[in-house]
Amino acid sequence: MEKNSLKEMLLKAKHGKYAVGAFNIFNHISAKATVQAAKELSAPLILQTSVSTVKKIGVDELIKMLNLVKENAGIPIVIHLDHCTDPELAKRCIDAGWDSIMIDASEKPFDENVAITAEIKKYAAAKNVCVEGELGVIKGVEDEISSDVEVATKYEDAIEFVNSTDVDAFAPAIGTAHGVYTEKAVLNFDLVRRISDTCDCPLVVHGGTGLSDEDFRKLIELGATKINISTAIKHAYFDGYQKYFEQNSTDRNPLKLDEFIEKEIKEVVKTHINLFGAAQKA
Ligand code: 13P
Repeated sequence: MEKNSLKEMLLKAKHGKYAVGAFNIFNHISAKATVQAAKELSAPLILQTSVSTVKKIGVDELIKMLNLVKENAGIPIVIHLDHCTDPELAKRCIDAGWDSIMIDASEKPFDENVAITAEIKKYAAAKNVCVEGELGVIKGVEDEISSDVEVATKYEDAIEFVNSTDVDAFAPAIGTAHGVYTEKAVLNFDLVRRISDTCDCPLVVHGGTGLSDEDFRKLIELGATKINISTAIKHAYFDGYQKYFEQNSTDRNPLKLDEFIEKEIKEVVKTHINLFGAAQKA
């Protein structure tokens, strides 16, 4: 299967002043719904898989399923591994056919984070696979990773990290958080602007669920090009189940239920793609 470049997709977005949505999917329904939404809006798409999804479905089965979805979509799709803390699993996914992976060594000291990320970048580059790295610690819970506090990224460290690792996309801690915001996020727009202005490496925003329309607009204007959305997809999935049974309490047709949930997820994905300005950019 032909590889799609995350870096090229994101540089195009930076140039065009929009961001590509990276949606965490966890099964066939969520993947299909996400792709369908992007297709209907003619938008580029990042199909993102968390480590627990990879472990649950299995590396080979998951990539085969996603490659088939990608092949039939007719829009540019990058299949991306999210927050992988295990270099061996990252290499396994690189070998299996992911277009792009995130190696997350952000909990390690700076030098160790650089060394791990640079090693994976070298391995991935030889196989035409892109790498996202993270510096600083993003608050909240995402998959198998959680932190109660943010470790904010410093500008000078960010530049050194990107230069030393040669990552294709960079995720700094800018005040966003994974999961549901209990209070309004206070974002470090100045850091986004400074990194984006001085650095060619595309910037990634984690913790996209629950940011305001204005936050998205400003982040994109300042140079953010990949925005991660996970919690909103999970909520659409569960709320879809609940809504379906409220409306069809005696029905036991799984295909109708799947169709209903697919529609709910599709709407959430479409809303974000429109907010990110990525419609008609495929
Ligand atoms: P949310 O769950 O807050 O949307 O964050 C997603 C994310 O950043 C995945 O890495």
